[in-house]
Amino acid sequence: MSSGQNNTFDPITLIEPFVEKKGGLMPALHTLQEHFGYISKESIAELATAFNYSQAEIIDVITFYDDFRTKPIGKNIIRICLAEACQSQNCKKLLKDISSQLNLTLDETNHDSGITLKEVFCLGNCAIGPSVMINETVIGEATTEKIISHIEKDGG
Ligand code: FES
Repeated sequence: MSSGQNNTFDPITLIEPFVEKKGGLMPALHTLQEHFGYISKESIAELATAFNYSQAEIIDVITFYDDFRTKPIGKNIIRICLAEACQSQNCKKLLKDISSQLNLTLDETNHDSGITLKEVFCLGNCAIGPSVMINETVIGEATTEKIISHIEKDGG
């Protein structure tokens, strides 16, 4: 999963190909997020005008889908599983430790380290929890040390 974040186009240029298409809002949202890494306030305003919706309606669509973001994210995204099986394997302690180590709370991005911390509910890796997903890689029996070392190895 790429965090996108390419500022070479303005929102309206990216939206235009989808405006006349039935169901064009979703691909327009995906395209904006792919290019900018998130859907900015400016993009929301452009979408509302182009698709003839209110900005509140556009925000409703964005917030309905977990994949869309309205804030920039880090180069590295750590998703900690907080579902039941991982809870029985101390994921909440892991979350506390990693939060303190990285000076981050859930849904926050540290722009100095380029790390975003998020929660997720089951990564299909329940037997060897606590599980985390760092960008595209799922790690079992996760510890703070394992997470940090994975990010450093990837050039974090
Ligand atoms: S409950 Fe955490 S991976 Fe399934």
